[in-house]
Amino acid sequence: MNKKIQNIINKKNKTKIVSLTAYSKNIAKILDKHCDIVLVGDSLANVLYGLKNTHKINLENMIQHTVSVRKGIKNSLLVVDMPKGSYGNLKSAKKNAKLLMRKTNCDAVKIESNNKNFKIIRSLVKYNIPVMGHIGFTPQYKKKFKIEGDSKKKANKLLIEAKNIEKAGAFSIVLECVYPKASKLITSNLKIPTIGIGSSNNCDGQILVTDDMLGISGFYPKFVKKYLSLDRIIEKAIKKYTREVKLEKFPSKKNFLNGSRHR
Ligand code: KIV
Repeated sequence: MNKKIQNIINKKNKTKIVSLTAYSKNIAKILDKHCDIVLVGDSLANVLYGLKNTHKINLENMIQHTVSVRKGIKNSLLVVDMPKGSYGNLKSAKKNAKLLMRKTNCDAVKIESNNKNFKIIRSLVKYNIPVMGHIGFTPQYKKKFKIEGDSKKKANKLLIEAKNIEKAGAFSIVLECVYPKASKLITSNLKIPTIGIGSSNNCDGQILVTDDMLGISGFYPKFVKKYLSLDRIIEKAIKKYTREVKLEKFPSKKNFLNGSRHR
């Protein structure tokens, strides 16, 4: 097994795994100093493109953003979401995952579970493509948001799904909006680490959409902690710029002819 992947697995029961999303180089460069995992999530559909779900994002979109993110990443494990429709059968999954890896030099792909696609995970792993699973609320398959695993029976069903993903060879699993007791059950019964989003601190690590935690996405479900209101900080700078342009304070002499924006 690849060393970077093994390092992530080795963190289980030792230290929490820190993960965030990135869609471009500048943010990726900052995350790379702190995060174990950086995910190019298909959440970029909502966050960047203003789409109502993740379904219209295609492989080419994911490749373009990952090429940019890769430029900012030296240390973190770079994981990329396989978009909806890109891994519907063994043949397309293999072809598209290989293309994604080759064009972006990412470290692993993430595949949402529909509780059926274990063979696809197994075949990708067999072809040396590391796979991160994703259970609970899986936006590519589920239309309506709900908390998952909120009864003993449902929690056990999720555990079986997680175990099947582990058995298929995935190196970790995202638990999205999974009830805390179910997260605990799954995390304590798997050898691979669980990465939670909206799934309590019972997981081996956490992930958030960076734009949400920075306060710039405009979408803040209860499980998001806003660490900053970046929208207000940006607006303050834009207002200052606007004022200075109108008052002819910008550009001043020191801003004249001192190089091109295009490097
Ligand atoms: O697309 C994404 O950003 C994700 C995270 C929410 C885990 O899948």
